[in-house]
Amino acid sequence: MTETTETTLKVSKIKNGTVIDHITGGHALDVVKILEITGHTGGVVSIAMNVPSKRHGAKDIVKIEGRELNPREVDKIALLAPHATINIIRNYEVIEKKVVKLPEVIRGTVKCSNPACISNSNEPVQPTFYVECKEPLMLKCHYCGNIMEKPDVLKQF
Ligand code: CTP
Ligand code: ZN
Repeated sequence: MTETTETTLKVSKIKNGTVIDHITGGHALDVVKILEITGHTGGVVSIAMNVPSKRHGAKDIVKIEGRELNPREVDKIALLAPHATINIIRNYEVIEKKVVKLPEVIRGTVKCSNPACISNSNEPVQPTFYVECKEPLMLKCHYCGNIMEKPDVLKQF
């Protein structure tokens, strides 16, 4: 293989499934974890890391043959990769492209890491966070003011 070919080599297109593109560089494996991809179910999964991107420096890509994502999975991905695009592929064509969206207030996706927080007691309160910063991620608990960062969130996924 010539060097030119090697530098232009790209991960193959998929026939049916989902391509998660523009993942923040270095976070492909977090996405794999969120989606509980073990590699034991047989479907083709391709992961590309630190691919040069015009928009955001370096990006990661995860391609999953034969699978679509549920809204809960998309909400989790938005926390770790706020610029990701979710492309639904059918018969090699991109039939839908969704840009993930990190809302200003997060409800129910993560728990407060402060054990003394009222949202961790038996009170009927839903964990609620304000997004103070999208990248690097900083969430502030509505109830106790505790600040949660990416590693605190990742631990829960
Ligand atoms: N893709 C794929 N298999 C297909 C079709 C597309 O793996 N059968 C991948 C492409 O390689 C790309 C992503 O899905 O990583 C989105 O495809 P497309 O919309 O064609 O690319 P762009 O226009 O570059 O997307 P964007 O504007 O989101 O950067
Ligand atoms: Zn709290």
